[in-house]
Amino acid sequence: MAERTVSVRVLGIVGSPRRGGNTEALVDEVLAGAEEKGAATEKVILSELDISPCKACDRCLKGVCAQKDDMKGLLDRMQKSHVWVLGTPVYWWGPTAQFKAFLDRWYGAKKVKFKGRPVVVTIALGATSSEVARHTIGMLTDSLNYLAMNIVDTIVAAGVQERGEVRSLPRVLARARRAGTKAAAIGQAAAATTSSD
Ligand SMILES: Cc1cc2nc3c(=O)[nH]c(=O)nc-3n(C[C@H](O)[C@H](O)[C@H](O)COP(=O)(O)O)c2cc1C
Repeated sequence: MAERTVSVRVLGIVGSPRRGGNTEALVDEVLAGAEEKGAATEKVILSELDISPCKACDRCLKGVCAQKDDMKGLLDRMQKSHVWVLGTPVYWWGPTAQFKAFLDRWYGAKKVKFKGRPVVVTIALGATSSEVARHTIGMLTDSLNYLAMNIVDTIVAAGVQERGEVRSLPRVLARARRAGTKAAAIGQAAAATTSSD
């Protein structure tokens, strides 16, 4: 029987509402690194989707989420991807409202496999000290570890205030690209055992 190669699928999720901004540039760079490994990539911009905040009604724990919006489709896309690239800028020491609403909606996502899934985190902030990103890094690290996910790398770009300014930081971009390559290699193992859909 002929063997079929299943290409690894990598999904970038951008939590900044600023198109062409620093977060999107970081996510793009990670995706480019994954493509070097032969990955098929796609990207979603959370602010262009309709994702309502969690209502804490607990309907998801008994069945399906009460919210009828774009989150169901996004969770399907997440489930079908082998690697996730999550990106948010720092807004008031935390993630953007769009990113937090998205994360809160993981609460009842029973059909999505979180455990062991490779994930790359990217964070952009205006302050020159990455210490200012500590709550955002901590919140994401603790949440992803709680879900037993595989954090491949966390890339923090400090001191980038203007749109796309991160493109003048070659070392940060190189690290993002390497993270994409590494995550794709890890995801490839999962892809090999998953049937394509
Ligand atoms: C509403 C708002 C709040 C912000 N709060 C912070 C902050 O607390 N600390 C910081 O360093 N930068 C802060 N920034 C700056 C952004 O983190 C910075 O411009 C970042 O590069 C934006 O990323 P983006 O280009 O992907 O949108 C804030 C920007 C906005 C619009």
